[in-house]
Amino acid sequence: MKKPELNSDLVRMRPLDTVDIPAVQRLAAAEEIARNTFVPHPYPPDGAEEFVQHAREGWRKDEAYVFAIMEKASEEFAGCMGIHPEPAHHRAVVGYWIGLPFWGRGLATAALRLIIQFGFETLQLNRIAAGHFPQNPASGRVMQKANMRYEGTLRGSLLHRDEYRDEIRYAILRAEFEASKAPAKKTKETAED
Ligand SMILES: CC(C)(COP(=O)(O)OP(=O)(O)OC[C@H]1O[C@@H](n2cnc3c(N)ncnc32)[C@H](O)[C@@H]1OP(=O)(O)O)[C@@H](O)C(=O)NCCC(=O)NCCS
Repeated sequence: MKKPELNSDLVRMRPLDTVDIPAVQRLAAAEEIARNTFVPHPYPPDGAEEFVQHAREGWRKDEAYVFAIMEKASEEFAGCMGIHPEPAHHRAVVGYWIGLPFWGRGLATAALRLIIQFGFETLQLNRIAAGHFPQNPASGRVMQKANMRYEGTLRGSLLHRDEYRDEIRYAILRAEFEASKAPAKKTKETAED
């Protein structure tokens, strides 16, 4: 696939690459990231290098697409978001984190909207899902703001730091994405005169 660039007012997204290693190493090390993801903590000294090489491999093999999220205002690397397709079912799961200094600026929401558009329009998917721990309502809010719908809670679904944790699942279907793009239907004239 030709390497894409996704743009909104707030963020620019491009494939994660070796230039991002120092920023990933610095931002991914925060415990606030690890407590709600499967990012290891303490973060190993070669953690970013390994993660970025794996992401590059995903792009090369057309198997998974991990983007760097650049904040447009500062042109700084702010976080990562990846979409992981399951081709047999035309579906995918999205995962993400934003570096602590960039929280609360709408970046995750902007990035999720863009990656959903990429998933339906470029990857031709039918369904895109994401999940979060109950202790991480901000991430659920991001999913809602990207027009994903709550589908249910999988009890004890994930083993995280030696603890079975529930997973709150959201998804959006192609038909819902298309409907959200359609211009609002003209309301019928009701006045006769
Ligand atoms: C969750 C995370 C991705 C959010 O990123 P962000 O760029 O700050 O998100 P946004 O600014 O786009 O939106 C955050 C929303 O959550 C809301 N929010 C923040 N804290 C909240 C809380 N405790 N409860 C409910 N909503 C909360 C914000 O108010 C905002 O919603 P609003 O615009 O309606 O006010 C980021 O905090 C993060 O990376 N956390 C650690 C890793 C992680 O959790 N990854 C996701 C795993 S599922």
